[in-house]
Amino acid sequence: MKFSYVNSTVIHFGQGQIEQITNAIPSDANVLVIYGGGSIKKNGVYDQVANALSSHKWYEFSGVEPNPTKETMDKAIELVAAQGITYILAIGGGSVIDGAKFVAAAALHSGDSWDLITGDYQPNSALPLGVVLTLPATGSESNMAGVITKKATNEKQGFLTPLVRPQFAVLDPDAMKTLPERQLINGLVDAWVHVCEQYITVPTGNMVQEGYAETLLKNLLVLGANFTQRDDNWHANLMWTANQALNGFLGSGVPHDWASHMMGHELTALWKVDHARSLAIVQPSLLRNQIEGKRAKLEQMGRNVFALCPSDDLAERTVDAIEAFYNSLEVETRLVEHTGDKQDAIEAILEKLKAKGFTQLGENRAIDLPTIETILADAL
Ligand code: NZQ
Ligand code: ZN
Repeated sequence: MKFSYVNSTVIHFGQGQIEQITNAIPSDANVLVIYGGGSIKKNGVYDQVANALSSHKWYEFSGVEPNPTKETMDKAIELVAAQGITYILAIGGGSVIDGAKFVAAAALHSGDSWDLITGDYQPNSALPLGVVLTLPATGSESNMAGVITKKATNEKQGFLTPLVRPQFAVLDPDAMKTLPERQLINGLVDAWVHVCEQYITVPTGNMVQEGYAETLLKNLLVLGANFTQRDDNWHANLMWTANQALNGFLGSGVPHDWASHMMGHELTALWKVDHARSLAIVQPSLLRNQIEGKRAKLEQMGRNVFALCPSDDLAERTVDAIEAFYNSLEVETRLVEHTGDKQDAIEAILEKLKAKGFTQLGENRAIDLPTIETILADAL
């Protein structure tokens, strides 16, 4: 166990907390409010934010799409320069928040914004950012990651810098009430896989992180089982669980996998598969392929999360239980968005991963291109 841990985002959790924005953003800031396709106008969140910012000077930028593109966010970067923006407020789910993070960092770069993704631009400052979360899933509201797509080339790739960790995040579960069931389920599945990526590796002896991971996984199982009886508590528990799943704490001092995410991003880039659903397609096949290395941890998960009884095939039964969890939520674990030739699809994904240099994935960097091909042959 060796790690440095900080999460500096102030969380304002609970009903009515949007009013905290008034004091959370300096009164002399020149604010750019960034949001998506307009859901915030239907659930009252926009009006509450406008009210909280009534004595601030602010502008707005809308139209951030799911899986935000560099092309769209470049327009926001132009607005930042034109209006002398000094503070960014993102209102939405992972896409809006990630897009806003990209703007916060790339706006201070004189070259092409994509340099932030390639690493050609290494920022040493970014505009300050605040968040109002409307879709719990990604944990983006208090982490230092962002994922952006370049439309021109269909590339989807992440970036990481502590400079874009939001200064504050408002988590009001009431904002979730207009979420379509599909997005709620996406949130559940994404949070679940985030925990898995930081847990299903090898036993570490780190009792705090491993125990907490199991608690979060059990929460998500209960929320899935009670999906049809959603009340205020249900929404609040999903919002807080999804946040904790990817705020940096769980992954401190333990190995990480993330191979399902790396492969899943290509399914989204190529066939617009929802992020969470791309993970449900890849992960069961990946776990079956990597079962020997992950056996001890899968057995632990089978015992502690699914309460399965011991047997020689406990790891296999645990993977079956994970797949059954997705199926219970009516989430496909096979690619249905692509109807063309399967081998062509696999080749297209391999090409994209190769171009990024993502040819050694997983906690041991043991998932090489031939292994990825085998996993995809099973998953697609
Ligand atoms: O654009 P609006 O109109 O707001 O509609 C959105 C969007 O269509 C809608 N929505 C959000 N809140 C709503 C609502 N509709 C009704 N009521 C509400 N309260 O939901 C749709 C999907 O939103 P999106 O932000 O795309 O979903 P999500 O939060 O799942 O984010 C997915 C993106 O985050 C990235 C993914 O790759 C993907 O691009 N990720 C970011 C991570 C991070 N920064 O740490 C980690 C994740 O693994 C993930 O990769
Ligand atoms: Zn994810």
